Amino acid sequence: MVSRIRSEVGWGKEFFTFLREVDSGKIVAGDGVSVQDSGPMSSHPLIIAIDGPAASGKSTVAKRVARELEIVFVSSGAMYRAFTWWILENGVDPEKTNAVVSLLGETGFVCGEEDAMGTISIGGRRLTSAEMSAEAVNSNVSVIAAIPEVRSRLVSEQRAYARENGVVMEGRDIGSVVFPETPHKFYIDASPEVREQRRRAEGIRDSIAARDRIDSSRKASPLVIPDDATVVDSSFLSVEEVVDRVVSAVRGQ
Ligand code: DC
Repeated sequence: MVSRIRSEVGWGKEFFTFLREVDSGKIVAGDGVSVQDSGPMSSHPLIIAIDGPAASGKSTVAKRVARELEIVFVSSGAMYRAFTWWILENGVDPEKTNAVVSLLGETGFVCGEEDAMGTISIGGRRLTSAEMSAEAVNSNVSVIAAIPEVRSRLVSEQRAYARENGVVMEGRDIGSVVFPETPHKFYIDASPEVREQRRRAEGIRDSIAARDRIDSSRKASPLVIPDDATVVDSSFLSVEEVVDRVVSAVRGQ
């Protein structure tokens, strides 16, 4: 697979380094997520990986960073949410992994872009943000996101976004698994109390602590802080301050 990837045109130096590291076993994907299965990326798009726990503010920050740097914003969590919504819509029990994987095989995802925001349609339907943050989705998404086959498929879709254009992508494993080769990795954190309070202020019922536990302890690509990530604790910073830190780091200031 690696040699097939190499035969494609337009590779940058960094990507070859990445491939060498994959070959030598220096870079390993999370269980069940194969780095080499997901196809190639093009030469040198600017890729900014922003990870962090639920309600850490990473989404708001990532959107603003994308706007400032004029590149596309992609929420990888929205993809896991969309698929979870689809599972529930189809009456599949999220705990029945075989049934979930079987539906995954029949499901078409269409990833696109509108006004510099990544979009995702599932089964021909573009979901509203209200649907994606429904309580039933909140309480089941971590179970669905822990299934290796689901991760593998969505990681391929996430990499596809970055083939042609730069992206700011936020999630849980963007720096550790999806784009381990990017030098622009950020981990946005906040205390559990601040995060619970943020969700309450949004009027959303979400059991942050339970999701954190599943997201951090799952076998497949758990939430981790990549060694080379810049960690920003947003608990007592304004959104502007966090955005400034990220943008300055990307610009090397
Ligand atoms: O960021 P979010 O709250 O919208 O993410 C929803 C869920 O999706 C989260 O509980 C864990 C999962 N997720 C993931 O496992 N990996 C990602 N890259 C993004 C989200």
